[in-house]
Amino acid sequence: MCGIIGYTGNLDARQIIINGLLTLEYRGYDSAGIAFFSNGTSDVVTIKTTGKVNNLAEKLKKNNADSTPVCGIGHTRWATHGGVSETNSHPHSCGNVTLIHNGIIENYHELANMLSEKGIFPVSQTDSEIAAMLINYYYEGDACKAIRKAINMLEGSYAFCIIFSDKPGVIYSIRKNSPLIGAICDEGAFVASDVVAVIDYTKEYFILPEDHIAILTADSFKIYDLHGKEVIPDVMRVNWDIAAAKKGGYEHFMLKEIHEQPEAITKTISPRIIGGLPDFSNDNVPDELFKGISNIVITACGTAMHAGMFGRTMIERYSRIPVSVEIASEFRYSDPILSEKTLVIAISQSGETADTLAAVRLAKSCGARTLSVVNVKGSIIANESDYVLYTHAGPEISVASTKAYVVQLSLMYLIAYRIAMINNKLSCEEAKDKVNGIITAVNNMKKVLKMDEELYLITNKLAKAEDIFYLGRGLDYAIACEGSLKLKEISYIHAEAYAAGELKHGTISLITDNVPVIAFATQEHIYQKVISNVVEVRSRGAYVILVTSAGKHVDTTLCDHHIVLPRMDEEFTPFCTAVILQYLAYYTAVRRNLNVDQPRNLAKSVTVE
Ligand code: M6R
Repeated sequence: MCGIIGYTGNLDARQIIINGLLTLEYRGYDSAGIAFFSNGTSDVVTIKTTGKVNNLAEKLKKNNADSTPVCGIGHTRWATHGGVSETNSHPHSCGNVTLIHNGIIENYHELANMLSEKGIFPVSQTDSEIAAMLINYYYEGDACKAIRKAINMLEGSYAFCIIFSDKPGVIYSIRKNSPLIGAICDEGAFVASDVVAVIDYTKEYFILPEDHIAILTADSFKIYDLHGKEVIPDVMRVNWDIAAAKKGGYEHFMLKEIHEQPEAITKTISPRIIGGLPDFSNDNVPDELFKGISNIVITACGTAMHAGMFGRTMIERYSRIPVSVEIASEFRYSDPILSEKTLVIAISQSGETADTLAAVRLAKSCGARTLSVVNVKGSIIANESDYVLYTHAGPEISVASTKAYVVQLSLMYLIAYRIAMINNKLSCEEAKDKVNGIITAVNNMKKVLKMDEELYLITNKLAKAEDIFYLGRGLDYAIACEGSLKLKEISYIHAEAYAAGELKHGTISLITDNVPVIAFATQEHIYQKVISNVVEVRSRGAYVILVTSAGKHVDTTLCDHHIVLPRMDEEFTPFCTAVILQYLAYYTAVRRNLNVDQPRNLAKSVTVE
């Protein structure tokens, strides 16, 4: 969600902040703003605008500074409290204080009432402005003291960058349940919501510890705990190339990320294949975690939840341990039945998703074992789970998740096989075969990536549709769910996924002439069942796109397009069907001239409930 960058150093802060905000655009936003010290004096200039960062850059050009500002803060806002307007955009100022905020101050009403009794009133409708007012209320020259007093009163989540007009060149930062990284290099000190914002300057960064105050000056980055004791953070190094965060000649990040999938899977599984077997010892995940389990709960949101649905089938298939998949936003309020014999697996690309984080916390508080599958190193969910398995997709910039999804699938395979091995349900020989199956599937995925032209042609019809249905059974149903989500989020076409056998219990009434139905029929034991469901929709006039494995003789009157996967073990078709559903969504959105990488209303990491 909101993007934050703060910089103080020896370069033009405006340029660095605008560039940083452009790299954070992917997080999703609807307005942007910047504040900086002009001339190194106490004169704080604030410029805000609705819409894109480029609008802000244009507005900024009209501001004639006498000299180059070298310290400032910048923000992209995704509206929660208060509509999209310049007034509600960040930075917010009150007296000496100017700040930007990511997160939600849950008790802002209460605080606003308290401040109004003292004659202090906001000008915006935001919860963030209340924080600026509160810090300023307590400010008597000691910034840390004022920040401590204010955050003591805040409930909710926050990542703040704060400047004080009488402290030019200094940025203060503090966070709780919202991400912030810090970095320092020859050019100065940075704080940002994501490392991609600073990667042009340094590959070394650290996660700001929660509820610690960071003080940035041009040549220092100090962090103090709430008792004023200095803390030295662990420095981390970005393990992907800077090019990974750039488009690299592709029209959209999404297309680039689709193409990066085979490599991302290989990077994710290779360190976990030891002697040909799935093995998590390099991740410090002990086998004991998987022993004596009564049940497994997989919890996640959106695409990650669809990876969890796939994981359920795989784990149950091999270990025969009951697995349920819970939408994190439901799970957290569901009073779940958990014990120390329950393993809760949380899946999240960003590692920041508020609902998934809450699910992990709840699981821990109930005594369950927690394992997270996370892409962003050092993120909150990774830190708070008992154990973490990182996916190695590199930065995923497009809001629509693609490579992060398939690497989650790849870890679901390995987790399923490892649990089964440990519980004596899968022999080493069988597990080795399975691992080889994954490796072969990655090669097949490369072949499907070359089917782009065929899939592009099909989207001619899809792009004009108002409703599209996705059908599948078993593993293909999990894929169908992801297909419909992908299409909806970037093409804005209504789509629904159905377990193919369920359609006739109501929804088939929506199937009329030319309504597109995309059916996945890649699993042998239920192949005929899916085909029967295809016959049902076909006889009601549906425009059918049928996806099957190689070697299937399909009656040509059954479908308008028959997409044939390479010959392969059916357990591994999801890598290939994932590419198909991604291409279909991508080209449909392209044909509709939409902003593929930043679809309307969506944020890359959903840090609010
Ligand atoms: O970062 P997370 O994996 O926790 O995010 C979960 C969902 O918000 C995310 O998968 C979302 O559904 C994607 N935009 C789908 O493409």
